[in-house]
Amino acid sequence: MNADDIKKVCILGAGAMGHGIAEVALLSGYKVVLRDIEQKFVDKGIQAMKENFEKFYLQKGKITEEQLDKMMKEQLEGVVDMKKAVSDVDVVIEAVPEVMNIKKSVFKELDEYTKKDTILASNTSYMSISEFAKVTAKEDKVVGMHWFNPPTRMKLVEVIKGDKTSEETMKVMWDFTEKLGKVPVRVEKDVPGFIVNRITAPSGALFGAILDQKVAEPEEVDATLMQVGQPMGAYVLFDYVGLDILSHGQEYCAKVISPDYEPPKFLKDLVDKGDLGMKTGKGIYDWSAGRPQIDMSKATDKIDATDAVAVQINESVKLLEQGAVKSPGDIDTAMKYGMNMPVGPFEMLGMFDDLKGRLEDIAKKYNKEIFAPTKTIKEGKLDEFLASFKK
Ligand SMILES: NC(=O)c1ccc[n+]([C@@H]2O[C@H](COP(=O)([O-])OP(=O)(O)OC[C@H]3O[C@@H](n4cnc5c(N)ncnc54)[C@H](O)[C@@H]3O)[C@@H](O)[C@H]2O)c1
Repeated sequence: MNADDIKKVCILGAGAMGHGIAEVALLSGYKVVLRDIEQKFVDKGIQAMKENFEKFYLQKGKITEEQLDKMMKEQLEGVVDMKKAVSDVDVVIEAVPEVMNIKKSVFKELDEYTKKDTILASNTSYMSISEFAKVTAKEDKVVGMHWFNPPTRMKLVEVIKGDKTSEETMKVMWDFTEKLGKVPVRVEKDVPGFIVNRITAPSGALFGAILDQKVAEPEEVDATLMQVGQPMGAYVLFDYVGLDILSHGQEYCAKVISPDYEPPKFLKDLVDKGDLGMKTGKGIYDWSAGRPQIDMSKATDKIDATDAVAVQINESVKLLEQGAVKSPGDIDTAMKYGMNMPVGPFEMLGMFDDLKGRLEDIAKKYNKEIFAPTKTIKEGKLDEFLASFKK
């Protein structure tokens, strides 16, 4: 199989990600089946797609009425029955909830109902692709295809190799991603969180610890980060992503990487109250009047904005040490396209005269081993390690 053979795709889950991925596939000319467990969820997803197409494409003159009509009526099919949804498609992209048992049962069904050569891709944020593959009889065809929110606007797609994913499957998904107008980056091992979520996990834990240990107020931190050029404050981003999703990711990292990732108390409290961020109108900030406006005069020296960069570089080096990513350049590309950052972590290395010392200080201050310098940095071998990728 090659990417040109892909004509019809099924997206499982018509939620935030599923309907967005379906929009991208329709815009690229594919036939799309959008499947959810109840008709009302399918209808809601299709309605959201229609509104997005009208607002961001039709009204801006990027597509015509005829094109919109063709996409919605000829290319798109909304389905509830699983067998009907997947039996004649070339690729399935699952975007069902981030719950291991749900994902596994979906892969079991896919194994039963799809054609032999259909590729089964998962949009999981953190979980092991190899675990999903194990419940199928075609582990070589199971792959990670990790999108970013919102799929229509974010360019990055991480293409993740599970233990048994074949090189052919990786190549097809790479080419397919490019045909969808996105920027693929290969992840060679399905480490928890892959590239972007893995590298932002320690900085997320750092921002959690800052609030839990009452080092500074959210607005003080966000103003400080924006002052040094970050497009969005850390806690505005937390609210934007959804505090339940964030907390869920941290719980998973706590289980599979280190207990240091345990969600901070303030986050658990907000989730328990149902204050989940933008989607509920309240989270760390009040969103009832739209995106919170950060008072830049609150920028403070209670925190050092570059601490977050230091822990991200540290995590990036860990990924290279593990062979999860082929080159520092791939990491920079992923972080730029996945986080809308002007530069990637390795392009910010010059900020630090003593990265090892800085990481040791951060680990001590917040009492978390996950911030401590990784082997290469600890041994003072970072420059030669990074140079080895250029050979
Ligand atoms: N939201 C994000 O920012 C984001 C970004 C990247 C990846 N992801 C990942 O994408 C996946 C989906 O996340 P989301 O935010 O779109 O969730 P969501 O809750 O908005 O949507 C999930 C949808 O899946 C449906 N569903 C449940 N079981 C199903 C099944 N067996 N078959 C088909 N549909 C089923 C639900 O009814 C729901 O409509 C998760 O794995 C998440 O980690 C999310």
